[in-house]
Amino acid sequence: MAVIRQATQADQERLYEVVVQTGNAGNDATPFYDDPKMLGHIYTAPYVVLAPDLAFVVEINGQIEGYVCGVTDSRVFEAQLEAEWWPALQAQYPAPDAARRATWSEDERRVDWIHQAVPTPDYVVQPHPAHMHMNLMPAARGGGLGRRLFDTWLKAAQACGVGPVHIGADPKNDGGIAFWQAMGFERLRQEDGTFSTTSVWMGRP
Ligand SMILES: CC(C)(COP(=O)(O)OP(=O)(O)OC[C@H]1O[C@@H](n2cnc3c(N)ncnc32)[C@H](O)[C@@H]1OP(=O)(O)O)[C@@H](O)C(=O)NCCC(=O)NCCS
Repeated sequence: MAVIRQATQADQERLYEVVVQTGNAGNDATPFYDDPKMLGHIYTAPYVVLAPDLAFVVEINGQIEGYVCGVTDSRVFEAQLEAEWWPALQAQYPAPDAARRATWSEDERRVDWIHQAVPTPDYVVQPHPAHMHMNLMPAARGGGLGRRLFDTWLKAAQACGVGPVHIGADPKNDGGIAFWQAMGFERLRQEDGTFSTTSVWMGRP
């Protein structure tokens, strides 16, 4: 039976596993990384530490098989990351050599992010200040758990006064994009009316 509950610090190690095993447009990203914690440092762990009220896991037979996490104010969260989260990781992982940028490994690209995270564009955040992430292990997909996790997150976020929400998806992740569409998200246009080609940004009123 699937049980959704709030995430705790004790879940962090398993969340590091889930995010890398689902982190390549929904497929396993493990082969791309020497350090399997790179994705979790960015996409799961800081949410459980800094926004625990909006981090939930789904357990199936006692094992965590997915999560949803997010924040009500992405700009506030970016500032919190700068003050409270990135510094320790910057000390742990030296910045990669910029002169070799063209040949950086996936690990180096993530370490560069840790040193100089790029804020989410204004055209995304201003109308949709909240954001969320959701990943389920393959065996947990397609049975309505994504919708249950979404409803759980939204209810909790509404209790925190959430407004419009955005998500960012890999353009290769057709299944993820279809899911967000089913949850009421629409693709957002850049200021010039075109769509970003590097990320699929979607918003929900
Ligand atoms: C995306 C994900 C969270 C969806 O969870 P899920 O449990 O598989 O989705 P559900 O079964 O709850 O489906 C909910 C709705 O989304 C639609 N949907 C979900 N996955 C879909 C897919 N691959 N293609 C088309 N529609 C899809 C379903 O048709 C369903 O619509 P309906 O309720 O109107 O019938 C899950 O598949 C997943 O973790 N994928 C890999 C990681 C990922 O892509 N995360 C999103 C990153 S942006």
